[in-house]
Amino acid sequence: REAGVVRQTDGSYLVGTYYDIVALLHNPRLSSDRRNRAALYRGLDAEDQQHFFIRLDDPEHRRLRSLATRPFGPPHSPGRIDAMRGEITRITEELIEALQGRTRVDIVDDFAYPLPVTVICRLLGVPREDEPVFREWSAAIIDSVDIRPGEDPGERERAGVQARAQMGRYLANLAEQRRGRPSDDMLSAFVNDPDPSGALTREELAATAVLLLVAGHETTVNLITNGVLTLLRHPDQLERLRREPGLVPGAVEELLRYEPPVHMLQRTPLAHIEVAGTTIPKGVPVVLVLASGNRDPKRFRDPDRFDPAREDNQHLGFGSGIHICYGAPLARIEAQIALGALLPRLGTATLVEDPPPYRHSAVLRGPRHLPIE
Ligand code: HEM
Repeated sequence: REAGVVRQTDGSYLVGTYYDIVALLHNPRLSSDRRNRAALYRGLDAEDQQHFFIRLDDPEHRRLRSLATRPFGPPHSPGRIDAMRGEITRITEELIEALQGRTRVDIVDDFAYPLPVTVICRLLGVPREDEPVFREWSAAIIDSVDIRPGEDPGERERAGVQARAQMGRYLANLAEQRRGRPSDDMLSAFVNDPDPSGALTREELAATAVLLLVAGHETTVNLITNGVLTLLRHPDQLERLRREPGLVPGAVEELLRYEPPVHMLQRTPLAHIEVAGTTIPKGVPVVLVLASGNRDPKRFRDPDRFDPAREDNQHLGFGSGIHICYGAPLARIEAQIALGALLPRLGTATLVEDPPPYRHSAVLRGPRHLPIE
């Protein structure tokens, strides 16, 4: 808030003000491709993720993102995601039913974690009998991106890379089986696009399907979990939502501002750039702290207040610019259904620990467990 831009001890830069973050996310001279980093900052994963469009720049990013968007139907049409509402409600109710009679529940393990992975499996068209192995791969991949201070990530990274390859192969084979014999799922839509320019290569298809899972799983887990935590910390707002369930979509937007699951994004300047009077050199990582922009008093009135009825809530929870979250409509629907279904049950619930134990991750923020009674 005071400095605008802060240089960190490793030489990279932090930007935490709303308007600077938005301007940078719309600046084509900032790259999402980590291969553009100066050697000193290049991560282990740069090569491994070459077909993930979240890590590519235009025009390659645009090509893959628009191909990946086609199965959702034309923009602004109700489309496949809306059709998922019924299915998401069923999965949510099944999970809640399994909790009946329990005195203590872990919102993460028992509810928020299984929900999005089951939804994405159904959306992609993974047969139900394969869902458990899919969940295992997913857990290994997500575990591999956790940052745990003082621990060598080597083992987890290797397990993650292996799980990513297995999942990619599995999804590419499943898609192959659907070629010419489509059913009503995204993998079928990927391989049976009537427009020949709609063809993804096998590698691109595998990477895109894995990306949907990686980008969409833990983020949604954290949104739901941060939501339960925030509501239990604000009993007045919880009560208000129970009385006025029409405010739930507004509450989800406010959660994306107040406790965003993705706290920061990283970019690499392709040339020297000027930000708030500071020159950031080419190749040096810039960290855009979305969570800080979301609490910038120059943009949001009374930013530290949680207000489900907040107006003009253009938060940065899904990013901004060409990489703005592709799964936002799905994430919104999932969180609205999940929190809506939990509301009647949260009235008498209490937190077992506050604060709960958090995941050690610099990028994603959410509790590792959230026991309630
Ligand atoms: C991109 C947040 C759920 C798929 C992003 C970005 C953010 C974000 C901040 C921007 C990344 C960047 O600019 O580098 C979230 C949050 C979610 C969520 C907070 C849940 C609450 C989902 C879901 C899916 C998904 C459910 C998939 C079904 C993606 C993809 C991208 C992306 C593919 C890359 C888009 C691109 O590069 O053009 N997300 N996301 N996300 N998200 Fe999400």
